[in-house]
Amino acid sequence: PVNVKRICCIGAGYVGGPTCAVIALKCPNIIVTIVDLNQARIDAWNSSNYALPIYEPGLDDVVKQARGRNLFFSTDIDRAIQEADLIFVSVNTPTKKSGVGAGFAADLNYVESATRRIAAVATSSKIVVEKSTVPMRTAESMRTILEANSKPGIRFDILSNPEFLAEGTAISDLFTPDRVLIGSLQTPEGKSACQSLTNVYANWVPTNRILTVGLWSSELSKLAANAMLAQRISSINALSAICEATGANIEEVAHAVGKDTRVGPKFLRASVGFGGSCFQKDILNLVYLSESLHLPEVAAYWRQVVTLNEYQKRRFSKRVVDTLFNTITNKNIAILGFAFKADTGDTRESPAITLVRDFLSERAHVTIYDPQVEESQIWYDLSEALPDVPVEQIKKQVTIAKSALSAAQNSEAVVVATEWKEFTDIDWRAVYDTMKKPAFVFDGRMILDREALRQIGFEVVTIGRGDKL
Ligand code: NAI
Repeated sequence: PVNVKRICCIGAGYVGGPTCAVIALKCPNIIVTIVDLNQARIDAWNSSNYALPIYEPGLDDVVKQARGRNLFFSTDIDRAIQEADLIFVSVNTPTKKSGVGAGFAADLNYVESATRRIAAVATSSKIVVEKSTVPMRTAESMRTILEANSKPGIRFDILSNPEFLAEGTAISDLFTPDRVLIGSLQTPEGKSACQSLTNVYANWVPTNRILTVGLWSSELSKLAANAMLAQRISSINALSAICEATGANIEEVAHAVGKDTRVGPKFLRASVGFGGSCFQKDILNLVYLSESLHLPEVAAYWRQVVTLNEYQKRRFSKRVVDTLFNTITNKNIAILGFAFKADTGDTRESPAITLVRDFLSERAHVTIYDPQVEESQIWYDLSEALPDVPVEQIKKQVTIAKSALSAAQNSEAVVVATEWKEFTDIDWRAVYDTMKKPAFVFDGRMILDREALRQIGFEVVTIGRGDKL
């Protein structure tokens, strides 16, 4: 196996940044350079006050320790490729917006151009690692591109090493991963490349947690893991609808079901729906794959996980309208949280976006507060979600507030869309005093103490509980 001394990571986003910063921290003898086309993003990674481009608990500490020592951020992609023994490809793979497979298949444009760049500039042999979540057999396409374009005497070995970190807990997930998965061709060269990458992780990950498998199993395992996680959420959300229509309480049901060691307690929290850049995209990818393989029943099975999630979001916004006496036109609604989950500033596929869109279409006024999301990001997301509405019109109906209390001022309802811990610590009595009466709270994340809120005088509506119960 190659003794890896220099690593290049292409893509300085939510995955490439934290992953390779942690590799640098844990492997002081390896020089790690993270590159990106986006100059502003690289500048932020290099900022002297550590105003990093993504918010992730513990990340700035890792960057502080390693940056300038053996961790570098740069836009000089070609040089970093040339110097590296091993290259991670961590670029984005969003759902295609047009063309064949639009709305389902992954857009592999970014992966392909990064691969072509590697082939064009490499002057020595490389191990190329697919870190992005990709459709199955992408490694094969990467190998074809690399081999067709490489210079004589240069060899490329392709590995699949999908990333299982979760945003919000990325650093602890990377420090103590449940497993690291490395897929390779089962040839002597493939196995040797696999050993080289295993040796990098073995600097801090116990070897019994480093799983080495075939390339295709590795690619499928990442899609499968996300599909099964999302499926748990859709399952519990489907049950939450039954709870709301009966006297059952979804928290009690989830607790009782999760106590079964075969089921387990994690990922059984009902909510307004899942978001994030991965779950929906990766399941749709699996649906597309199943259809291409002429397995329509398999495709329909996984598609339902996404359908149920859409239903859950719609059901929640409808419940808000129904509860507010069947109309929210001209009413003020405060939305607490815009990120797709707590402890991240990421808003990709955030359920909050759907809620705001639904409320705006009912012609309500919406005030949004989120502790981490930038104002410019909120405007961007809303204009993407409402392509037919001019931004000036959106800005007439939407206000962005600097605190939960100011968001709630003069509103008829407060809607919790993200489970930020600080929302449980708000002075809810002060919130109540500033609101119109009757004052409603809609807890889309089941984080609030409904009894305490009722004592104050709120009308409280929670996912997975009937209104009157
Ligand atoms: P991101 O959008 O935050 O970062 C990707 C970066 O790649 C961007 O900064 C972009 O400018 C850069 N880039 C694109 N093409 C490039 C090129 N040719 N050369 C240099 N830079 C280029 O995306 P994120 O969230 O980091 O996701 C990356 C991949 O990891 C995706 O495939 C995703 O599915 C997967 N993944 C994401 C997780 C997450 O929690 N966000 C978790 C596990 C996997």
